[in-house]
Amino acid sequence: MAITYLLVFCLAATACSCQENKFPPWFLFGAASASYQIEGGWNAHDKGESTWDRLVHTNPAAIEDGSNGDVACDSYHLWMRDIEMAEELGLTLYRFSISWPRLLPTGYPNIISEDGKNYYNNLIDGLLEKGIEPLVTMYHFDLPQSLQDLGGWANPLIIDWYVDYARVVFSLYADRVKLWLTLNEPFGICDAGYNLQHAPYLNNTDFGRFMCNKNVMLAHAKTWRVYDEEYKPLYHGKVSLSTLFIWYEPATPEDQELTDLVIEHWEGRYVHPIFSKEGGWPPAIEKFLLEDGKKKGYPNPLLPPFTDEEKELVRGTYDFYGLNHYSSRLVRKAKPGEVFSWPYYGSPELGVVFENHPDWKQAALNWFALYPEGLLHQLRWLKKTYGVEEILITENGYMDSYKGTDDWERLGYIRDNLEQVQLALQEGINVTGYTHWTLMDNFEWTSGYTVNFGLYAVDFSDPNRTRTPRESAKYYSQVTRAHALLPLPPRDEA
Ligand SMILES: *[C@@H]1O[C@H](CO)[C@@H](O)[C@H](O)[C@H]1NC(C)=O
Ligand SMILES: *[C@@H]1O[C@H](CO)[C@@H](O)[C@H](O)[C@H]1NC(C)=O
Ligand SMILES: *[C@@H]1O[C@H](CO)[C@@H](O)[C@H](O)[C@H]1NC(C)=O
Repeated sequence: MAITYLLVFCLAATACSCQENKFPPWFLFGAASASYQIEGGWNAHDKGESTWDRLVHTNPAAIEDGSNGDVACDSYHLWMRDIEMAEELGLTLYRFSISWPRLLPTGYPNIISEDGKNYYNNLIDGLLEKGIEPLVTMYHFDLPQSLQDLGGWANPLIIDWYVDYARVVFSLYADRVKLWLTLNEPFGICDAGYNLQHAPYLNNTDFGRFMCNKNVMLAHAKTWRVYDEEYKPLYHGKVSLSTLFIWYEPATPEDQELTDLVIEHWEGRYVHPIFSKEGGWPPAIEKFLLEDGKKKGYPNPLLPPFTDEEKELVRGTYDFYGLNHYSSRLVRKAKPGEVFSWPYYGSPELGVVFENHPDWKQAALNWFALYPEGLLHQLRWLKKTYGVEEILITENGYMDSYKGTDDWERLGYIRDNLEQVQLALQEGINVTGYTHWTLMDNFEWTSGYTVNFGLYAVDFSDPNRTRTPRESAKYYSQVTRAHALLPLPPRDEA
């Protein structure tokens, strides 16, 4: 049956005149992961404790299945298998993150872990040997607990702590790594981290998330400038950050203004200071939050203003746009007394509810709608709004709770989203690569192991954490090798 399948598939792939389905030769195909979600080895050698270690060990009830990332995919030991999988998939890009407390056990550069340093050296060298470009995220949610104890991202001193860490990372790896992301999804760091959804699992939406918001912008900007001044002349790499963009559409034309405000609140607060021509906070949400703070009785603005100097420091600190995109939501005005929660189901402070369009299919969690056109709308919007000249899709993937390998929905999701990328390319939107989230099933933050996004299934009951390619992995590996959008393979009915 497998042979028939392959034969039929190859005939189908070669029969069409696929020119229009080809991706440009320079287009990168990747897959992504994050340190805490896959590495395990949480206390190996001299590794320091992270905020995620602290959360899962002291408050397992915060995790849907009470699980943790102590071992996760055990990539701390199985990194060679990870590289082999990237090779099986035909990837030209692999995105992974460096664990700050693994590299700097105290959080500060007074001690650089030999073990941590070697771990990432091996991974980078192993990828390069196979012709796979490393895309390195310097921070993907696992802060040294030592720094959290001093206020973490809400303390402005973290800007310098982060830059000191980044300098160590560049000094060790910038000779080989050319693509960098300073931060993954600052929305997750601040808005989720201070709203009981992510470590440090604090409940401080009035202040904490906005102090964090300003500090992540400055930490990113100063780091970009360090690279730009000291490393770019030597190594010609590129630095940006990845931001999460849900595509929001108004439920009715009257909801357009509210929708624009939602976009500024959810996304603009992390993007506008860097990518807009004028810099600073997006104006409508800045004004809204100023008035909201006054109404709540606070004397000072909740969203700390930028000085003119800070605005200039942050503005333009990017070499490409890193986009994480999964899904779309409709925005409508809340009805009186309606109860809903930030950030997935609405924004109580804006008085808006997010819901799915009746025509959009739903994935396992009900906020996750299937609307591939949303990706094209998002890409167009980014180009139009910020004039970005290069967009790298740093995450896109399909979530379910299915543990088997016949993941036809994920396979379809990949095809449908890549089709939208091709439409964008045809319109002259410069998308330079597609990074699938994620290489393999892993510890999905507060959802634990209840949901997954993997091209490879991982057997978490097996001490060897055996990884098995899914149908989506087989399809994606054919796409990467053909460098073309391929039709859906016929399903094996056996
Ligand atoms: C979070 O803080 C708010 C404001 O102080 C409070 O009303 C709410 O009950 C807290 N939520 C939880 C789950 O502790
Ligand atoms: C697209 O981005 C790449 C990489 O930065 C650049 O070399 C190329 O000139 C860009 N193409 C267009 C049409 O802007
Ligand atoms: C785990 O891997 C070891 C070493 O390769 C092997 O000897 C052992 O049989 C494996 N165990 C399982 C359960 O697959």
